[in-house]
Amino acid sequence: MIIIESVAEMQQFARQRRGEIALVPTMGYLHEGHASLMVEARKRAKTVVVSIFVNPTQFGVNEDLDSYPRDFERDRKVASAAGVDVIFAPKAADMYPAGYQSYLNVEGLTTELCGASRPGHFRGVTTVVAKLFNIVMPAVALFGKKDFQQLAVIRRMVRDFNFDVEIVGMPIVREADGLALSSRNARLTPEEREPALCLSRAIAAARDAFRAGERSVAELRRKALALIEAESVAELDYLEFRDQDTLLPLQIADERTLLALAVRVGSVRLIDNCVLGEE
Ligand code: PAJ
Repeated sequence: MIIIESVAEMQQFARQRRGEIALVPTMGYLHEGHASLMVEARKRAKTVVVSIFVNPTQFGVNEDLDSYPRDFERDRKVASAAGVDVIFAPKAADMYPAGYQSYLNVEGLTTELCGASRPGHFRGVTTVVAKLFNIVMPAVALFGKKDFQQLAVIRRMVRDFNFDVEIVGMPIVREADGLALSSRNARLTPEEREPALCLSRAIAAARDAFRAGERSVAELRRKALALIEAESVAELDYLEFRDQDTLLPLQIADERTLLALAVRVGSVRLIDNCVLGEE
C-alpha cells in the first residue's frame, strides 16, 4: 500500500491506471462501514484508492470540522487490512489553494432533509467529490447508503455532468445493537451511547408497523417519533418519509418509501435511514 499526499502525484499515478481504479472517498477515522466499501472495491477493480480528506467546504461555520475525529495511523491499518493499494490523503491547501473559487451545486435534491438543516453542505460534498473524480479518474466509486441523500445527490451529479464513473451504493453497516457505524460515534459519551440507539429503534418501530400493514405516513411517523421523544438527551432534527428518488414528502407509504432521520444526541448529530420494504 502506498500513501500519496500530493494532488499532482495522485493525478500522475491515475493517468497510468485509467480504467482500472475503484475509489472509496472518505473523511477518515475508518470503521467497518468504510471497510465494507473497500472490500467491495477490491472485487470490482485492479487498483483500489481510498481518499482520506476531512473536507472543510462541507462543514458549516458552527459544525464539527475542528472536533472531527482523526487517526491516520489507525486508518492506515484498516485500509491495508482491506487490501487497499493507495491512500490519497491530500492537504487542504493543495485541494483548495489560495485563489480557489469554483463550486459544483446540485439543485432540488439538496434542499431537502440534511440540506435544509445544513445549508451549503452538499455543495461542499459535490465539489470535493467532483475534484476527487478528476484527480483519481476512477472507473467506479463506492458510497454507503448510510448517507442516502449524499448518494442520491452524487448519482444526480454524475448523470447531469456526464462523469464517466459507475456509482455503487452499499448497505449500512451496524453495530450488533443496531447503531449505524459512524466516525462521529467516537464523540458520544458513555452516557449517550445507549440513547443513541433511539434512531435504529425508531426505524424498527416504523418498519414493524409497515410490515403489519400500516400505510399512513402520519401514523408511521407518530410511532417512530415516540422512540426519539422517549430519550431526554435526544433532540430531533427531522424524521421524514420520502420518495427515494425525488426525496419529496409522501402521505402514503409503500415498499420503496425512504424513512430518513437526523437526531442530535448530546453534541453529536447522527443520521440513519431505511427503505421500508428492504431488509
Ligand atoms: P465519511 O463520512 O467518511 O463516509 C465515507 C463513506 O463511507 C460514505 O460513502 C459513507 O456513506 C460510507 N459510510 C459511512 N458509514 C457507513 C456505514 N455505517 N455503513 C456503510 N457505509 C458507511 O461521506 C463522507 O465521508 C464525505 O461526505 C465524502 C463523500 C468523503 C466527501 O467528503
